[in-house]
Amino acid sequence: MSKQIVLTGIKPTGVPHLGNFLGAIKPAIELANMPEYEARYFIADYHSLNSIRDPEVLKEYTYEVAASWLACGLDPSKALIYRQSDIPETFELTTILMAFTAKGLMNRAHAYKAQVDVNNEKKNPPDHGINMGLYTYPVLMAADILLFDSNLVPVGRDQKQHIEMAQDIAEAINHNYGKPLLTIPEPRINEETETVTGLDGRKMSKSYGNTITLFLPEKKLKKTINKIVTNSQALEEPKDPETCSVFALYKLFATKEEQDKLATVYRAGGMGWGFAKNELFEKINEVLTPIRTRYEELMADKSVIDNILLEGSAKARILAAEKIKVLRNAMGFRV
Ligand code: ADP
Ligand code: TRP
Repeated sequence: MSKQIVLTGIKPTGVPHLGNFLGAIKPAIELANMPEYEARYFIADYHSLNSIRDPEVLKEYTYEVAASWLACGLDPSKALIYRQSDIPETFELTTILMAFTAKGLMNRAHAYKAQVDVNNEKKNPPDHGINMGLYTYPVLMAADILLFDSNLVPVGRDQKQHIEMAQDIAEAINHNYGKPLLTIPEPRINEETETVTGLDGRKMSKSYGNTITLFLPEKKLKKTINKIVTNSQALEEPKDPETCSVFALYKLFATKEEQDKLATVYRAGGMGWGFAKNELFEKINEVLTPIRTRYEELMADKSVIDNILLEGSAKARILAAEKIKVLRNAMGFRV
């Protein structure tokens, strides 16, 4: 049986955080290491253009995301890693997909709707601050996915709707031409890590400013973990691990036995939040220390990252060009 194609992208809009790591990067690397999958992981830099308008900042974030993939264990000999902007075929496919995308579908996209809601709340006109890049964001994302005949797209819960939109658009094209020109992708969402909680108990997200970023030096990591919001229960009171953000994060790093042990301490009473936070810090730090070291090495000499990305995009472009040729031919364009 031919290998399944697994593909995902991360926008360079800041240093990745624990939500990105657990929800997308780690599960994606696990898939890349399995022999039945062929992986394509990219940096969605054109998606960032909607919000990042400073060229130096965009460049730096791009390196940070690339270095994160590599530091977290992505092996470039097992997966293609590339910049979205190095694959111009993506943008040709975007134009093709536009013609098959109902405007109503875009009206329902979460990211766009969220911005309209903010505008309504602030009594701004509904389109205030919304550019066509944001409005048509799911079409570009569909092009990223469909260009490589992706079967599986590992992401966090928030991206599910976008992948369903890619399915809808692909089906419209396949239906029109009466053949399976495009592969219908499926989201791969890991139940345990589909929504990692942030410092304030909401979904961890750059847009909420509640993140724990991946490569904080130890002291800063400790300080950030201390900011996790807990309730005001006194030291002696028994505490409920299941409703606690500290424990929710601890669960994602600790073994079952360690979780049971800490849960017992919670329920017994006499445990202060400082203790729980320290347990969490120790666990996270243990996992992140080797990754942080590798990340720092990569960021100190960016030529390694540059070479890996260039090699990845050269290989990806060959595949992309073949796909575009098939589509152009099927649609009546010169090939
Ligand atoms: P952010 O919301 O911080 O801007 P991105 O949208 O760049 O994060 O997300 C990149 C990837 O990480 C996506 O696959 C997304 O689903 C995943 N992800 C982001 N935040 C979380 C979270 N809190 N829990 C699980 N996965 C997440
Ligand atoms: N929209 C994704 C996010 O915000 C990033 C992304 C762009 C992506 N293109 C993609 C994810 C293709 C998976 C597949 O996180």
